[in-house]
Amino acid sequence: MTKIRIGVIGAGLIGRKHLRKLAEHGDYELAGIADVNAEQVAAEQPGARVFADYRKLLDEARPEAVIIASPNQLHAENGIACARAGIHILIEKPVTDTLETAAGLIAEVRKAGIRSLVGHHRRHHRQVKALKALLGEGRIGDVVGVSAIWATHKPADYFKAAPWRSQAGGGPILINLIHEIDFLRFAVGEIVAVEAIAANRQRGFAVEDTAAALLEFENGALGTFFLSDCAVTPWTMEQGLGEAPEFPFSGQSSYRLMGRRGAIEFPSLDQWTQEGGAQDWNRPIQAQANHAASIDPYVAQLDHFRDVVRGVTPSLQPVEDGARSLLVTLAIAEAATARRRIDLRERYAALGQGGQTTT
Ligand SMILES: NC(=O)c1ccc[n+]([C@@H]2O[C@H](COP(=O)([O-])OP(=O)(O)OC[C@H]3O[C@@H](n4cnc5c(N)ncnc54)[C@H](O)[C@@H]3O)[C@@H](O)[C@H]2O)c1
Repeated sequence: MTKIRIGVIGAGLIGRKHLRKLAEHGDYELAGIADVNAEQVAAEQPGARVFADYRKLLDEARPEAVIIASPNQLHAENGIACARAGIHILIEKPVTDTLETAAGLIAEVRKAGIRSLVGHHRRHHRQVKALKALLGEGRIGDVVGVSAIWATHKPADYFKAAPWRSQAGGGPILINLIHEIDFLRFAVGEIVAVEAIAANRQRGFAVEDTAAALLEFENGALGTFFLSDCAVTPWTMEQGLGEAPEFPFSGQSSYRLMGRRGAIEFPSLDQWTQEGGAQDWNRPIQAQANHAASIDPYVAQLDHFRDVVRGVTPSLQPVEDGARSLLVTLAIAEAATARRRIDLRERYAALGQGGQTTT
């Protein structure tokens, strides 16, 4: 089968990772790279066609598909240009920076009929797929609730290197929580209402360092989320999965999913049930191990995108769905400021999706 000619817009931290994975992948051929730092990128990527203007990449190299790994504020513009040129997109998370720009991108993607995949790479982990399968088999019955933690300590250098990270919008709600929200929507179901509180008492920055959110799912489940970037713990999904060497493996579960007939910890997939499916607090409860091998989610994401581009499989996350994860995360930030419950149903409808879910 012929290789997919692919371009990359933005060769920064994640763009370079995509370029490394593409170089090792047998089903892609690099058509070119666009980055405003064209000279530096050309020096780093010998043999690649590098353009300073992303429109030249689209017009001159004519890729069949593009990975958009530019800053958030450029995702919509880049995505719309690809759609108008009939080029399929793998667009990094968050799908765009605001709901308005997301709605514009969704409209253009639909109009052009291109295929899209949002880069919430966690969806491609085998452990995530195994969890979905276990829940789908009814191993723990209907999900009653979720208790979740994402808590780690970002070093001082992280804030020194990029001062915007200590300003409003640069905190763990918009940077880190969006991955967790996307995971919860994918695994448990659509989130229909949120409440939240946030604090900056530990670091004293303008932006939050710690937050707590309450989640209400469409299927009736309730959830709590504790989030902090100034607490030393083994409970982040990065550490639990060991998905990247820069976040050393802890193997600990940061999620507890509780159902009518049992509970599952994630990512360990340890399952707790009573004999014979009993539901009785006086009976003993036993743990059962489930196993799913670790894989590189970025490679699995490229495998999936290849099949999406070739029309072999529907996208696991088209732009419409990525916009929903953005919508929930923005609402949590807003709820923390406004100190009130926010119902999301009307907002989903306003996004132009008629209340449909795509997962
Ligand atoms: N899925 C993940 O695991 C993951 C991880 C990190 C970042 N991201 C997302 O990827 C995107 C990029 O993040 P990053 O950390 O790589 O940022 P970065 O700042 O390291 O890289 C961005 C790159 O885009 C280039 N750029 C800026 N303006 C441009 C323009 N007009 N045209 C072309 N290139 C331009 C910059 O020169 C830079 O090389 C963000 O949306 C981020 O949220 C995803």
